[in-house]
Amino acid sequence: MEQQNMHETIQISARSESEQIRDEIIRLFLKANGGFVSTGDLSTRLGISRTAIWKHIQGLENIGFTFTIQPRLGHQLKSVPNIPLLPLLENHLPTSCQLGRDVKWLPEVDSTNATAARLAAQGAPHGTVVVADCQTGGRGRRGRHWFSPMGGLWVSVLLRRPIPLHHASELTLLSSVAIRRALMAETGLDIHIKWPNDLLYKGKKVCGILAEIRAEGENLATTVLGMGINTNLSVVEFPADLSLTATSLSAALSQPISHPQILAQVLSHLDPWVEQLASGQRVFPQVAAEWRQSCSTLGRPVRVNTPSGLVTGDALAVDEEGILYVRTLAGPIQKIHTGDVLFEEDPK
Ligand code: BTN
Repeated sequence: MEQQNMHETIQISARSESEQIRDEIIRLFLKANGGFVSTGDLSTRLGISRTAIWKHIQGLENIGFTFTIQPRLGHQLKSVPNIPLLPLLENHLPTSCQLGRDVKWLPEVDSTNATAARLAAQGAPHGTVVVADCQTGGRGRRGRHWFSPMGGLWVSVLLRRPIPLHHASELTLLSSVAIRRALMAETGLDIHIKWPNDLLYKGKKVCGILAEIRAEGENLATTVLGMGINTNLSVVEFPADLSLTATSLSAALSQPISHPQILAQVLSHLDPWVEQLASGQRVFPQVAAEWRQSCSTLGRPVRVNTPSGLVTGDALAVDEEGILYVRTLAGPIQKIHTGDVLFEEDPK
């Protein structure tokens, strides 16, 4: 978890008015279920001119929607892009889910975490999601750069629940369980967790999580939960250092991954846990067995790169606050709050 400086002003919607109209048009096409929708009908329903409707449809085509058009009948939606826009996401969310009720999608952004923090400063509500096709300044843990070209799912969720600070570390642990469940349900792949919160497939990283927090008194006021999922990345485009340690889900599965479905699964798992944490309950104990069972770190000889130096030994356990216990070569057990685990058998 990394501390952030965020200021609050007025309540705004993450989406502009034009984006809200765009989303309403998509909803009307989805409701038509493959049938024709006339420009006149859209214009009457939305109270905007036919020219404005045409412009919106053109905008949709520019981002990957395809339509057929028939004189007098109107447009027929043929296909949608792999973008978790609100109307494509909401059908997969349980009605009770408070996360993902507003989605800001951007084709390119510096960092979705930075954007979510800016929206938070403008008063964006709890559950706002920021998602981008690519990031120019994707942030990784401990100040590192995060490789985020087109093809991945780069997303940040804004949490504005007063979670007690001493339960905050559970958030990232729970996020890794939520993402693991989502990835396994969508792909059938056997995904492991590497402490503290990387997700691996066959030992290679497919997802990283970066939680940036702002505290007020004893509680978290704002948390930006950033997730970088290597969904549809072409592994041949990975920089040399990454190709040894990371992979993508589509490469593992030889088929593309649906962004709206994965994201909806993550949010649906996470939402009740966030509410429980906010009501002062501990949640990690409920899923600790699953976390430990899927954890590739425990029981292995490790070297852990920590802010205070390298710790070498055997990874013994992770407690309910996410602290890693390593029996060091010299004998004593060391408690590690944050760091990067290197497995002894990994490429050095
Ligand atoms: C890690 O170092 O493992 C954490 C990587 C987190 C990357 C994601 S991508 C979406 C969100 N926006 C960012 O700038 N970072 C996170």
